[in-house]
Amino acid sequence: MVAAKFLKVETLFEAFAGGGARTLLYAKHLSLKLHRINEGNRVFVCELLYEYLNANLPDDRLKITVEDFLRCWKREVCTGRTYDWVDLDPFGSPSPFLIGAISIAKPGGHLYITSTDTATLSGRRRGDDIRLYGVFLRPWETYGELGARALIYSVWNAANHLNRHIAPVFVFYEGYAYRLLVRVEEKRNTNGIGYINRCKTCGTYSVSQRNPAKCGVCGGETEGVGPIWVGRLYERETLQGFKEVALKMGWKDVAKVLTKMLTEPDTPMYYPLSGFRLHRTPSLKVVIKKLEEMGYSAGKTQFSPQGVKTDAPVPVLKEVLHSLTSHP
Ligand SMILES: C[S@@+](CC[C@H](N)C(=O)[O-])C[C@H]1O[C@@H](n2cnc3c(N)ncnc32)[C@H](O)[C@@H]1O
Ligand SMILES: [Zn+2]
Repeated sequence: MVAAKFLKVETLFEAFAGGGARTLLYAKHLSLKLHRINEGNRVFVCELLYEYLNANLPDDRLKITVEDFLRCWKREVCTGRTYDWVDLDPFGSPSPFLIGAISIAKPGGHLYITSTDTATLSGRRRGDDIRLYGVFLRPWETYGELGARALIYSVWNAANHLNRHIAPVFVFYEGYAYRLLVRVEEKRNTNGIGYINRCKTCGTYSVSQRNPAKCGVCGGETEGVGPIWVGRLYERETLQGFKEVALKMGWKDVAKVLTKMLTEPDTPMYYPLSGFRLHRTPSLKVVIKKLEEMGYSAGKTQFSPQGVKTDAPVPVLKEVLHSLTSHP
């Protein structure tokens, strides 16, 4: 809501409005010129309309349909209308609906996508990863971030089919769901696409353009995941604007989440301290400070409370952890 308010969204398409929890928030907080709603279940739509009218929200800009979004978006394309904001909140994976959502978004418009398909995105469903997201995943312990990057890749891939590009504004991982905001851009390109590799010997993560490369730290064999989104997850300039709106609205929890994103380093992947089998886990803050003193980038990540994001290779990180745990 904060994002749509900051971006001054005027035309909005909700593909799966359900009982209207979001619909009501959008109508209340935005100055919409067109609020286009679709939902496949007639009973929910009745409920939604009842709530909407009961709340005295402006219904002259409301346009509702009850049909399968897979049919609805094609009809919408025929009208020639495109939207500032397309909201995709299906059950499970959004993959079947991406082409439709991108087709009805304005160039420079935004898609707000939810995925509750965390089982596949965590790399635990072999076969469904490539079928739904086009990515060969692995069940690494860093599955939260890996899933986010696979989801972004699938949106990029759908946009690429349509000769378009997407730029992530943020992705928020809630454990049971991902919320992803991307901007739709006009010209397709492959910036941000690559492979994420993990060294089988030292455990260091790396990024490469094509096939999994040898480890640049120890020369060991790597195992790779991809093709996947290896670019930025957060558009900081825009998030700063969202944060100001959140603070003005008194939405402190939202501002707190945005602060986390604003301070997270861009380095792909992170290392959970629990993976180092330490007899005593040092404070994350102290580890980060030490790495920064050594000239590495380091910071916390939203994907794991005990995860450190750093460009330091694992042997260096191990030394730091050792030095911090071996002295009283
Ligand atoms: C997670 S709920 C949406 C919740 C809603 N955004 C809210 O804030 O209340 C998903 C909705 O998608 C609808 N749905 C599922 N598949 C659909 C399809 N192919 N076309 C249209 N609606 C669909 C379901 O009926 C359900 O109401
Ligand atoms: Zn290595």
